[in-house]
Amino acid sequence: MSRSAHPAGPRHADVLPEGHYAAPPADLNVLDPKVWARSVARGEDGVVTVAGLPVTRLAEEFGTPAYILDEADFRARARAWRTAFGADADVFYAGKAFLSRAVVRWLAEEGLNLDVCSGGELATALSAGMPADRIAFHGNNKSAAEIERAVRAGIGRIVLDSFQEIVRVAHIAQSLGKRQRVQIRVTVGVEAHTHEFIATAHEDQKFGIPLAGGQAAEAVRRALRLDGIELIGIHSHIGSQIFDMSGFEVAAHRVVGLLKDIRDEHGVELPEIDLGGGLGIAYTSGDDPREPHEIAKALTEIVTRECRAARLRTPRISVEPGRAIVGPTAFTLYEVGTVKPLDGLRTYVSVDGGMSDNIRTALYDAEYSVALVSRASDAEPMLVRVVGKHCESGDIVVKDAFLPADLAPGDLIAVPATGAYCRSMASNYNHALRPPVVAVENGEARVIVRRETEEDLLRLDVG
Ligand code: LLP
Repeated sequence: MSRSAHPAGPRHADVLPEGHYAAPPADLNVLDPKVWARSVARGEDGVVTVAGLPVTRLAEEFGTPAYILDEADFRARARAWRTAFGADADVFYAGKAFLSRAVVRWLAEEGLNLDVCSGGELATALSAGMPADRIAFHGNNKSAAEIERAVRAGIGRIVLDSFQEIVRVAHIAQSLGKRQRVQIRVTVGVEAHTHEFIATAHEDQKFGIPLAGGQAAEAVRRALRLDGIELIGIHSHIGSQIFDMSGFEVAAHRVVGLLKDIRDEHGVELPEIDLGGGLGIAYTSGDDPREPHEIAKALTEIVTRECRAARLRTPRISVEPGRAIVGPTAFTLYEVGTVKPLDGLRTYVSVDGGMSDNIRTALYDAEYSVALVSRASDAEPMLVRVVGKHCESGDIVVKDAFLPADLAPGDLIAVPATGAYCRSMASNYNHALRPPVVAVENGEARVIVRRETEEDLLRLDVG
């Protein structure tokens, strides 16, 4: 439902959709392992712990709101993707989901590569020691300075997104006396979100070069003529929060079709194919994501089958999961400030963060879960909307959920599955101070991105 309607704005006046959350869960104290990081559990005293640390202690030490990230879970998920795809494929973690220097080190140690899409992400990756040849650079409008920096650093690949960029990268690389490895990003006419995909009319977007009308074939023609670049493959990314593999099937079919046309026209078999990211995670108990090994098996089978039919050698596959690795590994810890029952409607629970630390609900109508974590409660469930402290009625963190009716100011509540696209899309709206990211592992917690301070804000404001 709502996750499939990305462009939709906030629907904050909605009533509950029919059949949705028709009944509260049987026991509000139970934490569904689908949506919580692996080391999260409720202790006998009712307090929720992560990697053995009570959230009450974390709140005391680091304050709220805070993103709490389960490091072992992050590493395990990264490793599961790496293992599932094996030695004949590459996994590029999409840094846009969440990037910090600690994360870069974990990825490097776990054998993953990294996809960056800006000079800032590239700087973070290089400063934390990710080998340049394991980095891919994306984006529809990379600046000349960003391209030059990437080429000088010896970046593994640049994913070309337009006809201008083909020439731009070739020219910059040549002037530096280099030959840059590149892929061309194509739009295959498939856009997939969540449960459905639509296989027409999605060339109408800013990314990539359309296969339609022979445009991608023309891009390949031009790229193969230029000395400054070495074309190593074709790239396709079809959407986000996808559960259904059929969109990938159509995309792979069309990309392999292009590889075949390239072989027929140029006598060249490109050695790589990148199928992008976009694999979905569970935000609520109703979501049913696939495991990395199932995804790897499905994608490898699709590409192998298509290549066999086209009499092509199977190219090396790469994928770019972001959300599927980091999303489930973190939750946002908030303190309740006010509880406001609106007769006949619902109860508004205000927390000390909001749309500045999670814009996804307002921007995409995204759904989240929430739980009382500083204690257990046997009180009746009440229908709540969790809102932030910003001066805007669309400032909603969790649209519809149940919390115990004895919820009170000072209680800690947590929103799971906020590891992806929350800190990375956080803002200073209303001069909010962006929350820290606290990594927890084996009974120890450490800040990997510190909380912003008023001094940070004032430092940028030169008066
Ligand atoms: N590769 C490319 C080329 C991408 O554009 C993206 C995401 C990914 C990989 C990673 O996709 P993932 O596996 O994380 O879904 N802010 C939105 C998501 C935007 C995704 C943009 N591109 C959200 O919060 O849902």
